[in-house]
Amino acid sequence: MVELVPSILSADFARLADEVAAAERGGGTVIHVDVMDGHFVPNITVGPPIVASLRKHTRLPLDCHLMIENPDDFIPAFAEAGANWVSVHYEACRHLHRSLELIAQHGMRPGVVVNPATEVDLLVPILGMVHHVLVMSVNPGFGGQRFIPYSLGKIRRLKELRQNMALSYRIEVDGGVAHDTVSSIVEAGAELLVAGNAVFGEGHAERDARSLLEAAQRAAAVAV
Ligand code: DX5
Ligand code: ZN
Repeated sequence: MVELVPSILSADFARLADEVAAAERGGGTVIHVDVMDGHFVPNITVGPPIVASLRKHTRLPLDCHLMIENPDDFIPAFAEAGANWVSVHYEACRHLHRSLELIAQHGMRPGVVVNPATEVDLLVPILGMVHHVLVMSVNPGFGGQRFIPYSLGKIRRLKELRQNMALSYRIEVDGGVAHDTVSSIVEAGAELLVAGNAVFGEGHAERDARSLLEAAQRAAAVAV
């Protein structure tokens, strides 16, 4: 089943609760929170206080995508704030197995993320530990970038590995998910579609979430 995961990165942060509520009315079922530290990626965004505030305004799972150095240092604070899913970058973790265990020990769903230049087969040893694998289909740091087409091959490979290894992780894609790319992304096998600019970019989150989700669902119906 495909799910739309609105990314608040492109929302109006001064009206965040309303923006999230609108995206939820439009069919979003998980809320994606991009956490950036200005070191791992060349941008700074938000942290646990925003997660704690959002927690009071939505019951949807909060999917925190950590684009930060030393993520282990902050995992307890995200748990305390009410995060449900936490993903860490393969490229940011010196001890990825330990980081994923730490997330699970704090009662959250662990996810792993790969940058565009990282091969998904490198994840084989830890695939059995994760709830979701996030394929970055742009270089992390900014919203509104163009989808990198070879990401589709990574999504297909993750689907194949899941079947071969008899696992059940979910496949999430992040970056450049929009009307012109969503059908090929869904056909490749992605189930969790993160979208920032396509949902919030024009200030009509409910309408734009709904139309993107409908396009994804049409593609999913054809792919079955
Ligand atoms: C980028 C973030 C994305 C971002 C995607 O580093 O990880 O979640 O919000 O933005 P769009 O959907 O605009 O490409
Ligand atoms: Zn993200």
